[in-house]
Amino acid sequence: MRRKIVAGNWKMNGSKDLAKELVGCVRSEAEALDNGVEVVIIPPAIYVGDVVEQAGGKLAVGVQNVGQWSSGAYTGEVSADMAKDQGCEYALVGHSERRQLFGESDELVAAKVERLLASGLTAIVCVGETLDEREAGRAEAVVASQVKAALTKVAAEQWGQVVIAYEPVWAIGTGKTATAEDAQAMHAAIRVTLAEAGAPAESISLLYGGSVKADNAAALFAEPDIDGGLIGGASLKSEDFVSICRAMP
Ligand code: G3P
Repeated sequence: MRRKIVAGNWKMNGSKDLAKELVGCVRSEAEALDNGVEVVIIPPAIYVGDVVEQAGGKLAVGVQNVGQWSSGAYTGEVSADMAKDQGCEYALVGHSERRQLFGESDELVAAKVERLLASGLTAIVCVGETLDEREAGRAEAVVASQVKAALTKVAAEQWGQVVIAYEPVWAIGTGKTATAEDAQAMHAAIRVTLAEAGAPAESISLLYGGSVKADNAAALFAEPDIDGGLIGGASLKSEDFVSICRAMP
């Protein structure tokens, strides 16, 4: 039985007020859900403490990024242990914005995955192709290579802490969403890649991200290999985010 997860990535948005109002509302709505979905809020690191104060019950908290080191003279960085210490259960790693804007390589992503798992967090490993790569017919190859590279340092007993989020770069923040059929096809391909990498592919949750909204979530979540969503813009409005959580079958 795979975990069903809907995670809201606030990116560099939010405030103390949003942490208070939105999280309080989402928490009480999450308690009423009977579809077994785990709801996760992933705010900017500076608001993690505020969100953790409001979370609990069925609502968990994550960080958007951690450094690859355990501690030390790395000004501006936050460690996986610190995120855990603050009450986080999840962390994003390898988001396309980190790869594209901050030059994060596959090797760095793998090092961060290793650090997150050692700290006891669940790593939501983000992968996805650009529009050029899709149009060149290379989408599956690119995603397979990202998945394999990210997971090179996962030990056999750590697979339960790994979640993959497929986020086609061309669908992020653009209003364009992969069709449910295309997303399902990529998720099925990711499962094959996971098996090739020695992972228990059938038990790993695969999330779809990229302009998921209240009106397209149900079709995406109905697909057999889509176990949830990683939501950007629509996670900043409680009613939209809650509707997406409710769309999980
Ligand atoms: O991590 C979530 C993401 O990148 C998708 O963002 O705004 O297209 O839902 P958005």
